Amino acid sequence: MGRAGGRAVERVDYDRIAPTYDARYTENERSGTGAALCALVERRAARQVLEVGCGTGHWLQELQRAGTRRTKTSTPRSYDVLAYGLDLSRGMLRQAHARAPSLGIVRGRASELSFAGASFDLIYCVNAIHHFGQPRVFVSEACRTLRPGGTLAVIGMDPHGQADKWYVYRYFEGVYETDLRRFPPWGTVMDWMSKEGLVDVTCRVVEQFESDLVGRTVLEHPFLRKDSCSQLALLSDEAYAAGLRRIEAAIAEAEAAGREIAFPYEMSLAMISGQLPEGR
Ligand SMILES: C[S@@+](CC[C@H](N)C(=O)[O-])C[C@H]1O[C@@H](n2cnc3c(N)ncnc32)[C@H](O)[C@@H]1O
Repeated sequence: MGRAGGRAVERVDYDRIAPTYDARYTENERSGTGAALCALVERRAARQVLEVGCGTGHWLQELQRAGTRRTKTSTPRSYDVLAYGLDLSRGMLRQAHARAPSLGIVRGRASELSFAGASFDLIYCVNAIHHFGQPRVFVSEACRTLRPGGTLAVIGMDPHGQADKWYVYRYFEGVYETDLRRFPPWGTVMDWMSKEGLVDVTCRVVEQFESDLVGRTVLEHPFLRKDSCSQLALLSDEAYAAGLRRIEAAIAEAEAAGREIAFPYEMSLAMISGQLPEGR
């Protein structure tokens, strides 16, 4: 679901969010994600790289910059990435092109990658697979377009069993249930990769956020703004306002009783990756 004139709808309107989307990276640079992607490029000596659901091109530019830093300090051209990004949102792609005109930008769907077979050394997606209409088909398409020996990496969260880890799940009605439907469990993504013939399929946490926001500090939390995360962006204005009221009532009740109230924000992002055997 996403917002249209304040109503809950099915999809987040990334065209509308695009101009302010990158604010999240000023609030938290997510260095674990960047480090994991750079390490993959380096370890696999990946040259032709595709991000599916690339959004504003933040991670692709990070890989390009890491490559430039490295080629200046080590073997010339040892880390020269040809970076391609595919996304469904014209608004997000406009931002990506403006930030790095050298990126190869393609508008399209994750379930129909418009590239020839065996085109890429590395295909990855970050915080995007839960938006894809057919995530299983995306994994299959990615495997078709990987070169033998190439790597597929999916970075994202898994809300299953995490209801008490994020205050948003408690105070905004229906958000947790919607996330359970949207996000494939990490184990399922691993199974999909294995069934496509990828080997060395692993899952490791690359990013961890852990804080207890005490009392009114929660009201300043950047991830409480409506457009800061898809969980809230999907809500109608009324449902969002009702969640805020529940938080404020809980704070007022705790203050009246003279006790402390803490709002948990604990989240892990994992990278699930696998490799296409050389012989394929
Ligand atoms: C949360 S953003 C992540 C953007 C970027 N990967 C990042 O981490 O900053 C999700 C992106 O997935 C894109 N998206 C949603 N559904 C898609 C689909 N079926 N095919 C390709 N991209 C899609 C959206 O347009 C949006 O740019």
